Amino acid sequence: MMFDFHSVPRIVFGRGQFARAGELAATLGDNALIVSSASAARAGLTERLGEMLQQAGVAGTVVEQVGEPQVDDVDRALATARREACTLAIGLGGGSAIDAAKAVAGLVANGGRAGDYMEVVGLGKKITRPAIPWIAIPTTAGTGAEVTRNAVIGWKEKNFKASIRSEHLLARVAIVDPELGVGVPPDVTARCGMDALCQLIESYTSTNANPMTDGLALQGTYLAGWALRAAYARPADLDAREAMALAALLSGITLTNAGLGAVHGLAAPLGAKLPIPHGTVCAALLGPVIRANLAELRRRTTDAAAKHSLARYATIGRTLSGRADLDESAAGEAGAEFCDSLARDLHIPPLGTLGLDEATADEVAQLAQKSSSMRYNPVPLSAATLKGVLLQAM
Ligand SMILES: [Fe+2]
Repeated sequence: MMFDFHSVPRIVFGRGQFARAGELAATLGDNALIVSSASAARAGLTERLGEMLQQAGVAGTVVEQVGEPQVDDVDRALATARREACTLAIGLGGGSAIDAAKAVAGLVANGGRAGDYMEVVGLGKKITRPAIPWIAIPTTAGTGAEVTRNAVIGWKEKNFKASIRSEHLLARVAIVDPELGVGVPPDVTARCGMDALCQLIESYTSTNANPMTDGLALQGTYLAGWALRAAYARPADLDAREAMALAALLSGITLTNAGLGAVHGLAAPLGAKLPIPHGTVCAALLGPVIRANLAELRRRTTDAAAKHSLARYATIGRTLSGRADLDESAAGEAGAEFCDSLARDLHIPPLGTLGLDEATADEVAQLAQKSSSMRYNPVPLSAATLKGVLLQAM
């Protein structure tokens, strides 16, 4: 056994913990750039944060992040941070606002522009200096961006989405307050929650999984398995919101340490081609990818690693279905079926209604083979199989 385990920021978790943001910020700096999602602003959270900072003696300048961050968004926020000489950044919102804050915090300390540091499509320059201190305050339960060290950024002209990634990008504090999720609309709850569930399952079945991520991934899978429907149906159900906030947080820890798989391998190029939210893509692809992986793994009858992966899918299936009695094959199917029916119950639209067509599927299937998540998928999948997955999700 051999593994690296990346530590996480200080995590301040619990109902009402948002109230500590001013006090925590004051320990890290005196002049904050607040990168806020539009919905956090609408819900009054950005204003409340500004007041808390003021009371704690911290100045604050707000920039809004609308949608998933593009290189231009990061460069614009960065210019504001430089102009205002910010010593601290705070990301308040979903993964988009948090990743934008993360990138800005890193770039303020390292100079240059977003494109300089992007993997695959950018210059791939290394982040060599620690980011300025930054705090992540997620409002949605999804990406786990509050504990990851990569910021996913889109680049429209290049038709691609890629990461700026570095150990130096880790937040100092993640404030995870399940009460902030109460105002999140059901469709956002649904797609973010499916992203978290997907990240947990892909981490657990990753070829790079380790015993530490396994425990966290299974616990998160169990939590998301019961809580996502409840949080969708009853937005003010704090037990469900709390379980989902925890599941998302755990998914961020497991994906950082174990990696992901084919769902995320496809989601990156697909998300760059079509303006479909990441969580929607994940939700639509999860069941079909599990089935494709199961089929491919079952063909490898003499392969010990394949056997091991099949056993893992069975554990996921038993955890989600609550059916400990199922044999390995039935449990694997039960996991795929659970994910399909969950996506249906949460009214995740088929990707065909969102612009996916056969030509795009073809292109995405080819591009996905280069994407970084693909290498930890439990079994290699051909471009033809990946295209089949996309057609099913269409
Ligand atoms: Fe994801």
